[in-house]
Amino acid sequence: MKIVSIKDIFKKKVLINSIIQIQGWIKNKRNSKSNLLFIDIYDGSCVNTLQVIVNKNLLIDDEDNEIIKSTPGCSVSVQGKLIYSLNVEQKFEMHVNKIKVVGWIQNPDSYPMSSKKHSMEHLRNFAHLRPRTNIIGCISRIRSSVFYSIHKFFYKNNYYWVSSPIITSLNAEGAGDMFSVQYSKNNDKKKKFYKNFFGKEVFLTVSGQLSIEAYACALSKVYTLGPIFRAENSNTSRHLSEFWMLEAELAFSNLKNIIEVVQKMLKYIISFILKNNTNDLLFFEKNFNDNIIDKLENFLENKIKKINYKDAIKILQDNKIIKTDSSYLDIELNLEHEKFLVDKYFKKTVIIQNYPKNFKPFYMRINNDKKTVSAFDVLFPQIGEIIGGSQREERILYLDKRIHELNLNINDYQWYRELRFYGTVPHAGFGLGLERLIMYITGIKNIKDVIPFPRTPKNANF
Ligand code: 4AD
Ligand code: MG
Repeated sequence: MKIVSIKDIFKKKVLINSIIQIQGWIKNKRNSKSNLLFIDIYDGSCVNTLQVIVNKNLLIDDEDNEIIKSTPGCSVSVQGKLIYSLNVEQKFEMHVNKIKVVGWIQNPDSYPMSSKKHSMEHLRNFAHLRPRTNIIGCISRIRSSVFYSIHKFFYKNNYYWVSSPIITSLNAEGAGDMFSVQYSKNNDKKKKFYKNFFGKEVFLTVSGQLSIEAYACALSKVYTLGPIFRAENSNTSRHLSEFWMLEAELAFSNLKNIIEVVQKMLKYIISFILKNNTNDLLFFEKNFNDNIIDKLENFLENKIKKINYKDAIKILQDNKIIKTDSSYLDIELNLEHEKFLVDKYFKKTVIIQNYPKNFKPFYMRINNDKKTVSAFDVLFPQIGEIIGGSQREERILYLDKRIHELNLNINDYQWYRELRFYGTVPHAGFGLGLERLIMYITGIKNIKDVIPFPRTPKNANF
């Protein structure tokens, strides 16, 4: 007996009229007057369910008969003949020969994932069960495709994937709170924690950038994709304490080159999702009245708007969003400003470049004006910053000056500085927050819903 996934059933018409087996869970179950039982089954391979039709008169086995008592959520194994459905909405259905309940729902009345609609907030209390809902299923499949398309894009463009370390002694951003890593001795009943396992204090990484710069200065084109940890105490809809970041680094390149890579990559990812996750996107359109497919297609057709930081501040001052006439060098963009520029003024994705050096980390390359750095942020509608990047300071004298200005301990950055002693090279890179990109693609409003098990201040359940 051929066991097939529901995704394959909807893709390969060749299975029509053959006897096949599917394995999944009951979404809905209906009785008809004519002694037929209609059961919608999902297996997570796609958003579609397959309707299987059981003729109760033909249930002879005790095992088969148990299906009558089954409820939504039970896992089942079903054999039968696949046929075209007469119902227009449903392309295929199965006439069942044999059906077996594999796992029961204990206390169906209190099953938290009952078929009624639940709010996203409610679902967060059941992070272990929420993948069973259509919405989390769609997000999960899109999330998987986003990661796959990133690897595919970089592989095709001759970048190498480098695994940057998670445990580190450095704050790669030079600022920001980090989680410290301690250890406890196996036989210590008091569960005391010690810091000095590595001979120095270590933390969970806030960025893999510095490590992949070392590899870019040898392999030319590299990227890393892994979990990032930040102990910022910001409980917003766009911040996580643990999130996933893609970082890429390109040797012999400048700000302009890296922005081109970013644009090409974003278009690649989004066209990949439009092509391979169409049904998941249609689910969001249908249920949230959101034109996300149009939105994504528009993104592909339009050029991203690019402006200088100085001009962004001028627009905000002209429109009275910023009420002082201070120099742009003294005004730091905040979320409200970004929202105005992206959602109201340009009404599209915007790249802001050449930030005042005072608002940016030590590693960004100083421009000729000595006041700004070759940095850029990509701001998306509704979400804000999804990508931040820059050309890196490859000149040792300038780098050291910045390390001093920012009161960082130069000894901590010795190996990073050595990259500038030995065959230094202009290079640039960026970091993309995966969850924020997935929010943009799916239209989901809270970042906690696009990562399987969110970690935020006061919340590390599951
Ligand atoms: O702008 P960030 O801090 O840049 C860096 O870490 C650089 N080292 C990247 C590089 O040039 N290699 O972070 C990059 C992106 C942000 O644009 C945002 O999308 C995401 O990471 N991000 C977060 N996502 C979720 N929760 C948080 N707390 C995040 N902090 C940053
Ligand atoms: Mg940033």
